[in-house]
Amino acid sequence: MTEIDNYNKTCSIFNLEDGALTFARNDKYLKIVLNETDKDIFLLLPYNIDMELVSHLPKNIKYMILTERDSIEYVWTFIHNRIHENTEPAPVIYGENCNIHPTALIGIHGNTYAISPDRHRIHLKEIGGIVIGDNVDVEAYSIVHRSCFGNTEIGNDAKVCVMCNIGHNTKVGERTYIAPGAKLGGGTQIGSDCFLWQNIVTHSQVKICDKVMIGNASYVHKDITKSGIYVGSPAKYIKPFDERVLKGEIQW
Ligand SMILES: CC(C)(COP(=O)(O)OP(=O)(O)OC[C@H]1O[C@@H](n2cnc3c(N)ncnc32)[C@H](O)[C@@H]1OP(=O)(O)O)[C@@H](O)C(=O)NCCC(=O)NCCS
Repeated sequence: MTEIDNYNKTCSIFNLEDGALTFARNDKYLKIVLNETDKDIFLLLPYNIDMELVSHLPKNIKYMILTERDSIEYVWTFIHNRIHENTEPAPVIYGENCNIHPTALIGIHGNTYAISPDRHRIHLKEIGGIVIGDNVDVEAYSIVHRSCFGNTEIGNDAKVCVMCNIGHNTKVGERTYIAPGAKLGGGTQIGSDCFLWQNIVTHSQVKICDKVMIGNASYVHKDITKSGIYVGSPAKYIKPFDERVLKGEIQW
């Protein structure tokens, strides 16, 4: 029995929980842990991690450094799937007056896979749920993915048009409008009163603040922290957000 066998809980690196086992894919992710060192966690680390960073880990954070032969995603996914073999996923919760088209798929599994030593892909078991607020529409052929941990969330009065993909752990703010074909990568966080026009794509984990409009077919690859209109690939600021659009006084 190894020390890892004592753990019956896993957590995300973005939401550390006492007594849980997680992993830092590389130095960038280890720095996230170093910013929040009060939690008692067990950390799997890859063979090529910066040992200078590791030396700053406090005593309450236990860790194991894997060998060059180990895929860190695979080792962690294997342990996570074993711990949660019998865990039921959290439910899908709907608010009032939602309009979910019969062809929309709410709560299907995400697309997170790890590669096993014999080069098969193993699916990461999702145990999270979905929370949909009041007056939300999800139109035909759109997909809202279940999260691994926590919830994928769509805020009150948000509208998701046809053929959109809402990735796992995404948060969509209140009154945000998502036009046909938009693809939101896993963990994307969209503020309130945003307009994401047709076929936009967000990189996973990107954060977009309130009152942002993204032009057709744009690609958002890093956080947007200032309200405004952004276009292109990568999306760049072109002008201020026009508040009149919120009252329907102007249309695009
Ligand atoms: C984002 C948007 C609202 C900007 O419209 P706008 O304020 O009228 O801006 P403009 O058309 O004056 O364009 C300003 C500049 O950005 C560029 N631009 C506009 N939209 C762009 C886009 N999606 N991608 C790349 N560049 C874009 C223009 O070429 C122009 O560049 P220039 O100044 O070098 O000529 C508009 O491009 C858009 O995407 N509208 C979506 C409308 C829509 O599809 N509605 C139906 C949804 S179901």
